Amino acid sequence: EKAGFDHFMLKEIHEQPKAYRDTLSSRIDASGTRVVLDEVKMSQDDIRSIQQVHIVACGTAYHAGLVGKGIIEKLARIPVETDVASEYRYRSPIITPNTLVMVVSQSGETADTLAALREAKRCGARVVAITNVVGSSVAREADDVITTWAGPEIAVASTKAYTSQLVAFYLFGLYLAQTLGTQEAGYIADVIAELKRLPEKVERILEQADTIKNWAEQVATHNNLFFIGRGLDYAVALEGSLKLKEISYIHSEAYAAGELKHGTLALIEEGIPVIALATQEELLEKTVSNIKEVKARGAHVFGLNAEGETELVKTVDEVFAIPHTLQLLSPALSVVPLQLLAYYASLARGNDVDKPRNLAKSVTVE
Ligand code: M6R
Repeated sequence: EKAGFDHFMLKEIHEQPKAYRDTLSSRIDASGTRVVLDEVKMSQDDIRSIQQVHIVACGTAYHAGLVGKGIIEKLARIPVETDVASEYRYRSPIITPNTLVMVVSQSGETADTLAALREAKRCGARVVAITNVVGSSVAREADDVITTWAGPEIAVASTKAYTSQLVAFYLFGLYLAQTLGTQEAGYIADVIAELKRLPEKVERILEQADTIKNWAEQVATHNNLFFIGRGLDYAVALEGSLKLKEISYIHSEAYAAGELKHGTLALIEEGIPVIALATQEELLEKTVSNIKEVKARGAHVFGLNAEGETELVKTVDEVFAIPHTLQLLSPALSVVPLQLLAYYASLARGNDVDKPRNLAKSVTVE
């Protein structure tokens, strides 16, 4: 049932190209230039009336929601807030009939996410769910459902569910942009063309797993490390850090690179590993200057950049290039080496990769 892989997690990491294809297929028109989301029953007026979007989720799904915020704000120019479900419920969120609430849940059964959905409905908001389980509680109670076709995810650490959630956000963001006219048709077609190229690019990353295995074996000898990045790279850094904590039990923190010098830089000492994400071209120069700050204090920096970029290699100790894509789409690729890093670090520490201590696959208690 593990199809020749040692663990479900590794199998699921390798299933991501297929999950991308399946989640995209039938949602792009024959000309390849427009998104078709028949499952979303919003009228043009419904879409035009949206004044704000709230994205609510837990854990990895929350991290997908942070990328979702970047996607929707960029493509549809609507303000978005992303909240952890257990916080959202109790902070008296300002929900109006013009608020679109999006809940994200792989299982569709997470108690806090479900409760947030109910609260949003009670306040009169329309709820769109992104879920991987057809017929789950979240799917049944939401107004509209965008199903991720990742297939069953068995490993407790979520991988292909996260990346398919990103695809759902790209599709939904493009769908809003088409209706609102916030992006040129040519740009929408470019994003769609790049989305279709993701599976092959993920394959190319997976072929270089040995490089990341080597990083993981170095990282596994430490008890503390940092992930840093700016913009979408920061959102991916948070996910990379969670994955590593969850299955390797190594403590790590993800930091917005520019925020380090406001306190956390005090923790950087000789030899500490720092995983630096620098895939966002517009922010590269700023990220490189933050990398220099940690290098100057003795950090050992593992950098992720985009293929063809030549600056980072001059600053970091080790570098891994992700295939080139649009900046907006880079999270869909840059998370893959971080999933492999967590996997191999967990293996190096002799942990139970698929069933980490203290955790359950589906959190149905509040
Ligand atoms: O089923 P859900 O997407 O609602 O689950 C949310 C989180 O419990 C889940 O993503 C958790 O953070 C993962 N185990 C992380 O890998």
